[in-house]
Amino acid sequence: MFNLCVICGGVSNEHSVSLVSGANVLRNLDTEKYHILPVVIDTAGDWFYLPGCNPDAIESGAWTEYAGKVPVTLSVSRSTPALIPLNGDTPISVDLAFPVLHGKNGEDGTIQGLFEIAGIPYVGCKVLASACGMDKAMTKLIVERLGIRQAAWCVFSAYDIQESLTACAETAERAFSYPMFVKPANAGSSVGISKAKNQEQLFDALLEAARHDGKVLVEEFISGQEVEVAVLGNRTLTVSDCGEVVSGQEFYSFDAKYNDTSSQTLIPARLEKEVRDRVRDAAKKIYLALGASGLSRVDFFVTDTMDVVFNEINTLPGFTSISMYSKLMNAAGLETRDLLDRLIALARED
Ligand SMILES: Nc1ncnc2c1ncn2[C@@H]1O[C@H](COP(=O)(O)OP(=O)(O)O)[C@@H](O)[C@H]1O
Ligand SMILES: [Mg+2]
Repeated sequence: MFNLCVICGGVSNEHSVSLVSGANVLRNLDTEKYHILPVVIDTAGDWFYLPGCNPDAIESGAWTEYAGKVPVTLSVSRSTPALIPLNGDTPISVDLAFPVLHGKNGEDGTIQGLFEIAGIPYVGCKVLASACGMDKAMTKLIVERLGIRQAAWCVFSAYDIQESLTACAETAERAFSYPMFVKPANAGSSVGISKAKNQEQLFDALLEAARHDGKVLVEEFISGQEVEVAVLGNRTLTVSDCGEVVSGQEFYSFDAKYNDTSSQTLIPARLEKEVRDRVRDAAKKIYLALGASGLSRVDFFVTDTMDVVFNEINTLPGFTSISMYSKLMNAAGLETRDLLDRLIALARED
């Protein structure tokens, strides 16, 4: 038995999604094998150890009322990796961390850096792959070298958008015709993303994206099916089949992802095997080029002419019971409990 610290919540616009993912991980971990230390980071960035807390209370947010919650911090001393209770109780040693965190301060290399400093092995990508996978402009630079098609793009700083909105919009208009996609470089769950169909909407879209990150991408619109591939492993990779997301709305917005019951996920994607294999091959190449480890979900569009267009990589993809990552791995023959065992074993490799 070893002490496995499962961390969810976090200072991110995906805080509540992370609570759902974290609760699902907690429900599926084998308690015969692991002594689980559930930790929630609240939206202010304070850490709480919740021994014996029902995952349902974590999922719903009711954990804040849990009588047994203990404010803690993580020791950065490599000799004693531990959660330090702020009430003066004895430290709780940590053998391995499982950050079930999405977006900023969780998926972007920051908490991974903290684990490196503290000498705690952790599930998922390391610092650099996490940071590059989070920043959509950095990811694009890496993927460009692979010769895999992606939406043409340009980038603006939030400062430039605020200071010279019209000039930014005109630069984008010279590059692309409408509609265009506008997105914060560092965000997730479609937060801050808009489809702009005219200049007025482009102004609004640029300002909205700039509220979420210091860097904003404008992309050409890609028309096609949206497909996703789950990858697992460090050196020897398990690459799932392609799943397809069918948005109940004009694009796969936050609402379409989490609230719209007409959005669907299909496994496998409605594509010929030859096309699905090309997508899987691209996913593997991107995973390796990024230097990913543990897990990632790699997302694409497939156009009417069966062109494979990379969209983005998620190094800590949603892990709810209906999330594509676990469903794709389940379809590949790996039950969620075994998938979690594999992720933990991969985190302990060298
Ligand atoms: N260039 C594009 N062309 C067409 N649709 C896009 C484009 N970029 C994003 N989208 C739509 O917006 C959604 C969210 O964008 P994405 O880049 O995946 O951001 P996030 O990290 O928030 O999921 C996608 O799932 C897709 O529906
Ligand atoms: Mg996405």
